[in-house]
Amino acid sequence: MLKNSWYAVEFSNAIGTSPKLLKILDREVVLYRTANGQIHAIDNTCIHRGAALAQGWIANGCIVCPYHGWQYGTDGTCLNIPSLSPTATVPKQAKMSTYPVREKYGWIWLCLGDGEAGELPVIPNFPDLKSSKLRSIQGKFYWQANYERVLENGLDFAHAPFVHAGAFGNPDRPEIPELKIENYAGGASATAYLAATPPQGLWRLLVRGERAPIQTRTGFFLPNLTFLEVHLPFGQLTIWTAHVPIDIQHTVSKWMNFRNFFTGKWADRDAANRTIKIFEQDRPIVESQHPQIIPTDLSSELYVAADALQLQYRKLRQ
Ligand code: FES
Ligand SMILES: [Fe+2]
Repeated sequence: MLKNSWYAVEFSNAIGTSPKLLKILDREVVLYRTANGQIHAIDNTCIHRGAALAQGWIANGCIVCPYHGWQYGTDGTCLNIPSLSPTATVPKQAKMSTYPVREKYGWIWLCLGDGEAGELPVIPNFPDLKSSKLRSIQGKFYWQANYERVLENGLDFAHAPFVHAGAFGNPDRPEIPELKIENYAGGASATAYLAATPPQGLWRLLVRGERAPIQTRTGFFLPNLTFLEVHLPFGQLTIWTAHVPIDIQHTVSKWMNFRNFFTGKWADRDAANRTIKIFEQDRPIVESQHPQIIPTDLSSELYVAADALQLQYRKLRQ
């Protein structure tokens, strides 16, 4: 597991002043905002009797445990134990673990490493689509699979004609032209021109006749973010996805989808359905992969030219 890294874990707009539980890598973390809008992350299990802070609330800049009302400041220190007499002091050991947390590009970023002991890593740089004029929607998709298998699926060009035939893969043209790999800090991307199938549904309104190959770029940022840019004949579609590792066998992919065509709300459902359909097509394959966790030994699975981006992911993760 990559510990000293920033995981994109939640949509910014999903966190308000009521505490929200996040399950990540077998831990339970609570995300919340204080009245000043600042985001915070603290362990879920109250140090007193183990009640869930996620069921608590925020008061005076503290998160309050719902069981006996202990109040924890943003650094995890307990500042008030209501059952104590006003002259008694709060014991020093009454302190919860907190985590470094940031907000950028419409995502909440969480670092599970020991931020106090060393330097924090840097949150990657990429275009801030969230503050652009693009139409955006978001959603979640749950998998019974390890997040690295899910992430690699997002980097995989060669499966499209088989798994997504009729959606965007063309089964009559399964060959993947040479990938143009771009390396950058914390990740890599690949671009290819993929053979297209005629568009279905609503998108048919936008295209006439034969479709030219479609410029497609996909890439990742360690540890858990992927993106896909599809240059359709009628506009551009970009999908950013944070693959949140709930535990070794379960993942939730939180996706943001941006488009510069059909920018009305009326087309949101169609856009969401397309994204979910793709994930649903991937699901049985990704959940079937064995071993569930990708091997650390680079020589234990085979690579062909179309797997170049996955190989780059495995090398970087190494
Ligand atoms: S269990 Fe949290 S205050 Fe007692
Ligand atoms: Fe897929």
